[in-house]
Amino acid sequence: MDIIKTLNWRYSTKEFDTEKKISTADFEQVKALLRMSASSTNVQPWHFVIADDKKGKERMAKATQGGFQFNEKKVMDASHVILFCAKTEVDDAYMAHVLAQEDTDGRYPNEEIKVAMDGGRKFFASMHRDQLNDLQHWIEKQVYLNIGNLLLGAGMLKIDALPMEGVDLSILNEEFTLKEKGLTAVAMVSLGYRTATDFNAATPKSRLPENEIMTIL
Ligand SMILES: Cc1cc2nc3c(=O)[nH]c(=O)nc-3n(C[C@H](O)[C@H](O)[C@H](O)COP(=O)(O)O)c2cc1C
Repeated sequence: MDIIKTLNWRYSTKEFDTEKKISTADFEQVKALLRMSASSTNVQPWHFVIADDKKGKERMAKATQGGFQFNEKKVMDASHVILFCAKTEVDDAYMAHVLAQEDTDGRYPNEEIKVAMDGGRKFFASMHRDQLNDLQHWIEKQVYLNIGNLLLGAGMLKIDALPMEGVDLSILNEEFTLKEKGLTAVAMVSLGYRTATDFNAATPKSRLPENEIMTIL
């Protein structure tokens, strides 16, 4: 595996081939990327709304009306579109739910470790809720980490992707009644395959130099 090759192969695809669909087998791997992403204290405060047909993509594309028409085709022409949502609270009931899943998955050899993990997760959540006053920000940081995981993983699967913040999140919250479900829309990612004419495929990558962004001690 050559990670540098993948990093250079992947790019923000601006034109998707409407004839090409991600196979079911490949999309299973995409779903694994979403599900297996790391998160602080394994809190997993996310939900994904997925569109894989015209009707679903039309619902997603409602969020490109207004100021964001430049993203409309990038939604409609993609094979699949994923809306990343963040939970709006991680209350005790949710914490108990995550703990029970970890227990079922065999994470806890004894009660003491289980209690410690539960306490640790609640400690972080209450620190962000009550002291730092940035619980929602902390939750959404976990969701962005998942987006990064997806972008690299999709590249490894030779699936093209475009992350989009250029969407009206309030429209998506309404369209999918997210608030009522304890969720809020965060960002969207289109997936599929580039066209031969996508100008952005030929645009060289641009990144700040290593010696500017890294301090090697
Ligand atoms: C969180 C996020 C939001 C973005 N939103 C948009 C968008 O709404 N529309 C778009 O065309 N590109 C969008 N981009 C693409 C960026 O412009 C692109 O990632 C950046 O220029 C780096 O280029 P590369 O992805 O081709 O390496 C977004 C990227 C990220 C990570």
